[in-house]
Amino acid sequence: MRILGIESSCDETAVAVLESPLVVRSSVVASQIAAHQPYGGVVPELAAREHVKAFPPVLEAAMRESGLDWPDLDGIAVTQGPGLSSSLLSGLSVARGLSQRLKLPLYPVHHLEAHMLSLYFSESRPENPCPALVMLVTGGHTAMIRMNAPGDYDVLGRSIDDAAGEALDKGARLLGLDYPGGPEIEKLALTAGGEGPVFPRGLPAGEEALSRGGDYAFSFSGLKTSLRYHLEHHADADLPAVAASYQQAVMETLMTRAEQALENEAGFACVACVGGVAKNSYLREGLEGLCEKRALPLITVPLEYCTDNAAMIAAVPLLRECGEAQADLGIDPNLVLQGLKMRGRG
Ligand code: KG4
Ligand code: ZN
Repeated sequence: MRILGIESSCDETAVAVLESPLVVRSSVVASQIAAHQPYGGVVPELAAREHVKAFPPVLEAAMRESGLDWPDLDGIAVTQGPGLSSSLLSGLSVARGLSQRLKLPLYPVHHLEAHMLSLYFSESRPENPCPALVMLVTGGHTAMIRMNAPGDYDVLGRSIDDAAGEALDKGARLLGLDYPGGPEIEKLALTAGGEGPVFPRGLPAGEEALSRGGDYAFSFSGLKTSLRYHLEHHADADLPAVAASYQQAVMETLMTRAEQALENEAGFACVACVGGVAKNSYLREGLEGLCEKRALPLITVPLEYCTDNAAMIAAVPLLRECGEAQADLGIDPNLVLQGLKMRGRG
């Protein structure tokens, strides 16, 4: 079975070809970072235009690198949502056109499910990684999920406000760094010599947080505000030390929740960290320490499959034994993941 995957939910135009069981024959990503950098964040209309320009060469490169020809394909997988509507539309138009022309089934993919299943690209994963404690940390979403099997997910907690990646992107802007902020903060933090301020760890409690974020709710918006106040009141702030403290507060918030889940919930076969923020070495090392203490494997995803890519999109129908094909697929910017259950009061 050979699947061509297409991803365009935000600012990456990506196409990949995968072969069962899970061989990546090609994975091409065109990043739009340079186009959005002058604006300090993603501009939706610009993103849509860049996708239209990038798709023909990216598609061609992915097919060439796969060593396959169009008739060798068995299906097309495409991100249906969540994401920016005009960006999603450009990917879906390409996918629909190919599926009609080549008479191939079209598989809709939920972007966050694709991030979760990217853990299967890890060479160090156990034969059966489930049930896995998955830290899903992207630019738009933060959640801690118990993955019982591909397609069966319990949300243990999620952010009630900003995502971890969003906190890093917004924090970087306050620090005068480029977009995307996560890697910039990580780079600056590595140069820190002195001690930075101690920022609050946002772990909300109380009925409202529990009902919106689950038993292990996260919150990151207060952290960004305290960085803003700190910078306003310290004109001579030691920026590398501040960046290191800020990064530490974001990552320790994530690690504390992981540690609580490992203490209170039984039976995980592994811990996995997926999404763009999973590239962060402070987070990887911290989770490594937590896992070592409990003799549990930590699954880290190869860096190229942490940030948005199409290999993870094509992986979803392969891992879910193709799921359901849909001929008349439309985009859904607020797509809800089937099989995702909010645990506890949330
Ligand atoms: O998963 P992703 O590519 O996009 C979404 O689906 O949102 O994640 C992008 C996020 C951005 O917030 C970016 O700042 C963050 O991942 N990121 C990092 C690192 N590299 C990317 N955060 C921390 N450390 C990094 N090295
Ligand atoms: Zn993503």
